[in-house]
Amino acid sequence: MLQAKALHKTFNPGTVIENHALRGLSLTIDEGEFITVIGSNGAGKSTFLNAISGDLKVDEGQIIIDGQDVTRKTAWQRAAQVARVFQDPMAGTCESLSIEENLALAWQRGQRRHLLRRAVRASQRALFREKLATLGLGLEARLTDRMGLLSGGQRQAVSLLMASLQPSRLLLLDEHTAALDPKTAAFVLRLTDQIVQSQGLTALMVTHSMRQALDHGTRTVMLHQGQVVLDVRGAERAALDVPDLLAMFSRVRGEAVDDDKLLLG
Ligand SMILES: Nc1ncnc2c1ncn2[C@@H]1O[C@H](COP(=O)(O)OP(=O)(O)OP(=O)(O)O)[C@@H](O)[C@H]1O
Ligand SMILES: [Mg+2]
Repeated sequence: MLQAKALHKTFNPGTVIENHALRGLSLTIDEGEFITVIGSNGAGKSTFLNAISGDLKVDEGQIIIDGQDVTRKTAWQRAAQVARVFQDPMAGTCESLSIEENLALAWQRGQRRHLLRRAVRASQRALFREKLATLGLGLEARLTDRMGLLSGGQRQAVSLLMASLQPSRLLLLDEHTAALDPKTAAFVLRLTDQIVQSQGLTALMVTHSMRQALDHGTRTVMLHQGQVVLDVRGAERAALDVPDLLAMFSRVRGEAVDDDKLLLG
């Protein structure tokens, strides 16, 4: 489904702040896999997702989605294959547009830019109402409310819905529950599982929670200094618990695990 081959990315090359963020990162993902991605701050997780979506061009390496080499394609050209939800609930939606206008734009994702229109047709409205009702948040009665009026959790739920409106096959989630309170985060995670399963999506979910990394998805990958340093699935993964992952973390980093964010589990 996705092949990332020996990806390299250096930010600010040739300067004192040169940063080799991806260092030959390779990963092959099969159709229908749901991968949780862990790694300390600066490990290259977001950079990797940006490289897959086309928001960032890699310096070296190759990205193949569904057998097609997309390395040189723009994010827009990949939009039909890749959908994203970001950490910041404000990032994925337009707050000055209504809920239904945001959904209408998402509905057209992957089409040529000049065809995009935010007007909502009656047939779409019925579909949006139906989809929103599945969230159980009462948003189906608020189609014309501005997106900016919604809480962070409601916005992330709508963002997930938007990401899954078109049958793009690869879903990228970058700490998409990190800004939410625990109860709302749990709700959005359940929704994520449900959408990934019901639509048979292939997904990559970045998280700092070891618990989430093990409880969700089918495979867990740890990044460190721009490379994959751990890749577990199946029985090996099922046998792991949070302390095991934390121990692996500290081994990889060659230091004691003292990161508050990680210990939150
Ligand atoms: N646009 C950019 N310009 C310069 N440096 C960048 C840029 N984006 C990322 N970096 C650097 O690349 C490295 C990897 O960053 P990245 O955001 O991928 O880490 P991450 O694993 O997502 O970390 P976090 O857990 O904090 O989100 C970091 O050192 C970061 O400072
Ligand atoms: Mg990040």
